Amino acid sequence: MSAIPAHVGIIMDGNGRWARQRGQIRTQGHLEGLKTAKRVVKAASEAGLSYLTLYVFSTENWKRAADEVAFIMALVRQYLRGELDFYRENRIRIRHAGDAGGLPVDIAKELREACEDTRDFTGMQVILALNYGGRDEIIRGIRKLLAERGGPDSPGEIREADFRRYLDNPDLPDPDLIIRTAGEMRTSNFLLWEGAYAEYWVSEKFWPDFTEDDFKAAIAQFGQRERRYGGANS
Ligand code: IPE
Ligand code: IPE
Ligand code: MG
Repeated sequence: MSAIPAHVGIIMDGNGRWARQRGQIRTQGHLEGLKTAKRVVKAASEAGLSYLTLYVFSTENWKRAADEVAFIMALVRQYLRGELDFYRENRIRIRHAGDAGGLPVDIAKELREACEDTRDFTGMQVILALNYGGRDEIIRGIRKLLAERGGPDSPGEIREADFRRYLDNPDLPDPDLIIRTAGEMRTSNFLLWEGAYAEYWVSEKFWPDFTEDDFKAAIAQFGQRERRYGGANS
């Protein structure tokens, strides 16, 4: 038996290209991508994962056309409402990573309520990275640290483990595996601190075409990886 990752992060990319390839508008790709997200959440829960972080919308994605942004936000609202029964049945807990203060107020409220409604569920946790940026999370963390400590009196005392307390979800273990679709070989500001030693798996498929079997293949291949964390095993 090979090791199952406890925490998987997914950079769900390629919705726009998927749509363009079919002569459709970009938003059609987001609609189709939502279906993939639902299938993958189910597959991850069945595979026995403890945490799944989905990169839904980055702090840089506000640069896009206003109608595309509005469409994505409407999909998020639909997802949060429509999946509540599924979370209940599967005891899935919803969490948020990112800056809630920078989200439209109705989305922030919807998200807060979904987190609240599912907070006692002890199955898999799905972390929605929404208005999330790794650099933004670190900067917000530094602000929290300074606010709590009243300034850098003794900067030498700040250790990595201390700083972790100021991240969005300090209790989560680091991601073991980060999957990215659409063939792009970059982090795009995803889990910069937490992903320091994550294994990467890149699929050439656009996110709407990504299947449960692709997900399972990534998990299986992860089991073959040798993680050294800078050490030397042989
Ligand atoms: C990922 O697909 C979804 C979001 C970033 C919100 P894209 O919309 O980035 O699709 P491409 O990369 O343009 O194909
Ligand atoms: C990363 O994809 C963000 C999400 C998947 C939400 P992007 O499409 O924004 O990344 P870049 O611009 O190709 O780096
Ligand atoms: Mg993209």
